[in-house]
Amino acid sequence: MSNIEQTLSIIKPDAVERNLDNEIKEMFKNKGFKIIKEKKIQMAKSDAEQFYKVHETKPFYNDLCTYLSSGPIVAMILEKKNSVLGNREFMGATNPKDAGEGTIRKKYGISIDKNSVHGSDSIENAKIEIDFFFKD
Ligand code: CMP
Repeated sequence: MSNIEQTLSIIKPDAVERNLDNEIKEMFKNKGFKIIKEKKIQMAKSDAEQFYKVHETKPFYNDLCTYLSSGPIVAMILEKKNSVLGNREFMGATNPKDAGEGTIRKKYGISIDKNSVHGSDSIENAKIEIDFFFKD
């Protein structure tokens, strides 16, 4: 049985602003992820609020939504065997200072807020997040 999965990745404003989007896409491809769809957009704050609704009770929610909508992002559907977990491992810890060698956040993350990439945390959320950006 195949366990090819799709997951949703976002290259966040701090990385796009530093023109790192192509570099990060290359990192994904070199790691064996296929980029099935991608789009560069700037989100409205209300869209960011919807996207991060699971965090709405957290103290950082408002700043998080302001930040995600502060500049262009690149949203991508990534495909690979076990891509949800694989992407989370490849991104590294949420806080770049805790991220392991070879991870995207170790290489490019600036802070826990400006941590360069987002990735779905479960297969179920990957479906929801892919639909959020790519449902026709
Ligand atoms: P992300 O994987 O996109 O999911 C939610 C984001 O909230 C997370 O990355 C961080 O950038 C941001 N964030 C800010 N503060 C915190 C915190 N204390 N704990 C977890 N995430 C945080």
